Amino acid sequence: MDTLSAKDRNLLDAAEAARPKAYAPYSFFHVGAAVRTRKGDVYAGCNVENISYPVGICAERNAIAAAVLAEGSKMEIAAIAVAAYGKDGQSVGITPCGACRQAIMEFGQQARVIFTGNKGELRIESIDKLLPDSFTFQSLT
Ligand code: THU
Repeated sequence: MDTLSAKDRNLLDAAEAARPKAYAPYSFFHVGAAVRTRKGDVYAGCNVENISYPVGICAERNAIAAAVLAEGSKMEIAAIAVAAYGKDGQSVGITPCGACRQAIMEFGQQARVIFTGNKGELRIESIDKLLPDSFTFQSLT
């Protein structure tokens, strides 16, 4: 079990506060995410689904979009927290999906990811542990 610093608690609180704003009428899985940038500001997002299911977008990538909008393309993620409610409205464990891991990596190769594991345990992991051998700019050259 990891322990949360005050800053990390604050970030998880922001993710939890975004969670009820989710638009999830298809999965009933409500997700909130919050990015803390290297500048120190916090940006939140929630998942937004669509009747054409693949069009929906995850909370993490919406939080990243808000951070880019505010800070521009040089925005760097220091940490990102994620929280979810299941169908019954109770907190459930969530780890960022593969697409979101790649999106986090793009803006923070050292980003710390704060989430709740499947047994309800708090986890803090570096993104390169969650997404080893990721596709990077170097891969293109
Ligand atoms: N979802 C997220 O917002 N973040 C994740 O990391 C995993 C899944 C959303 C997508 C969809 O709206 C719902 O949760 C069920 O997959």
